[in-house]
Amino acid sequence: MTSAPNILLVDDEPSVLRYTKTLLEIENYNVETAASGEEALRRMNHGPAPNLIVLDLVMPGMDGLQTLESCKKMRPEQKVVMISCVNDTNKVVQAIKMGASDYITKPFLPPQLQGAVRRALTPAQPLATQATAYSVKTSESVDDLDDDLFFLAASPAMKQIRAQVALIAKVDVPVLLLGESGVGKEILARLIHKMSIRAHRPMVKVNCAALPADLLESELFGFEAGAFTGANKSKPGKFEMAQKGTILLDEIGEMSAALQAKLLHVLQDGTFSRLGGRSNLTADARVLAATNIDVQKAITDRTLREDLYYRLNAFTMTVPPLRERREEIPLLLRHFMNNMSRKFGKNPLPISDRLLQECLRHSWPGNLRELGNLVKRYLVLEAEDVIIDELQARGSEGNGDTSAGSASARGGLKALVRSLKDDAEAKEIQRALEDSNWNRKVAAAQLNISYKALLYKIKQHGLSPAGSREFGLRANMN
Ligand SMILES: Nc1ncnc2c1ncn2[C@@H]1O[C@H](COP(=O)(O)OP(=O)(O)OP(=O)(O)O)[C@@H](O)[C@H]1O
Ligand SMILES: [Mg+2]
Repeated sequence: MTSAPNILLVDDEPSVLRYTKTLLEIENYNVETAASGEEALRRMNHGPAPNLIVLDLVMPGMDGLQTLESCKKMRPEQKVVMISCVNDTNKVVQAIKMGASDYITKPFLPPQLQGAVRRALTPAQPLATQATAYSVKTSESVDDLDDDLFFLAASPAMKQIRAQVALIAKVDVPVLLLGESGVGKEILARLIHKMSIRAHRPMVKVNCAALPADLLESELFGFEAGAFTGANKSKPGKFEMAQKGTILLDEIGEMSAALQAKLLHVLQDGTFSRLGGRSNLTADARVLAATNIDVQKAITDRTLREDLYYRLNAFTMTVPPLRERREEIPLLLRHFMNNMSRKFGKNPLPISDRLLQECLRHSWPGNLRELGNLVKRYLVLEAEDVIIDELQARGSEGNGDTSAGSASARGGLKALVRSLKDDAEAKEIQRALEDSNWNRKVAAAQLNISYKALLYKIKQHGLSPAGSREFGLRANMN
């Protein structure tokens, strides 16, 4: 039998220390105690590393956060469960950012402590055997957010995100979700809502890019009859509809400066009124915001207010693009196939090795949405060859050419096709850019690729506003 895990318990209150130690010893753990952060670090420096540290957040001298920081510096892989008080929200958020495995709130019941400790000590399972899906059946029907929520996380980065969601969902702070178009920001927002204390209340989504500024304002805050021409009936806004629930401000980077200022006020005061209305309403909605823009650049360019950004970004999650977690492609293919075949009332189609290889090679500028659409088309066309051809036509730039039988290895015809394809692609991109007066965001939308992918393509093809049409010359990059 393997020996019991060692736990180092750190708390300045002797009574809590005794109580917690007993609870853990009942579960057969070897428990050592330290009465301060300093003492905990001394032990870490000298003795063997414990399997887990259970650490009080508020202590005199070196507090829980400082101790956590030093522990993580010493041993980045060290598992730490924090013990917090109810009103320690900011510190709990800090602790999650610093990589705490979990936290429990004082006063806690024995199963809460024992559960958190058990989870923290359970080693991550290998990819193949892991039940990767998170399935939550949503009950209420709000906007378009009413279907099954299925969150797949198999890569280390996504597993970390999922673990963070489990923690941050329960802390009632705004979360900012970043990542390219189609990576899964919205589904992540829904997961946060579903795992939060607000789960039984509505989740409401507002797409800030879809409406002009004044319409967006009335959409968010509602209006009274007579507030403006055409307002003959009063209407509640999304903030009201999300009362005690969650509001997702999607594409927050597209919000006008004036409305950003108003939103900031609402978030600071916690109150708002309908347009044309006099009474003050309480804004009790947890705010989640998502964007695919480069926020740092938007702040520098002054298209995103820095103060609003800080308000929204109590916690930030950046969802990696699909090309950085290719190991999830086989699972995602299967997931989309099962899901969509059910929706279409069809039998799932086989995913051949050839199709899988082609998918693994592709760079997925449209990320998971692009992959989902591919499966949908496959189900409609029922012709794998067509799908593979389309995929190849869309290109496999980037460093995806690692698997056997890459284009360069095959040479000849393949290279020719590629150069023709690159020509066509560059022309199409140049056209979209000129149509939009070189507004890259608009052009990206028109081309149905992400903003980042467009920037990459512009560089790859050496495009410029002057229209240096040297397509043929650049065709064989890669
Ligand atoms: N982890 C995941 N597991 C299963 N399905 C996912 C996952 N992430 C994304 N998807 C699916 O991929 C599609 C795109 O996801 P989503 O709409 O959340 O992306 P997004 O980041 O909000 O995109 P955009 O920036 O374009 O709004 C959806 O159909 C979603 O259900
Ligand atoms: Mg979205």
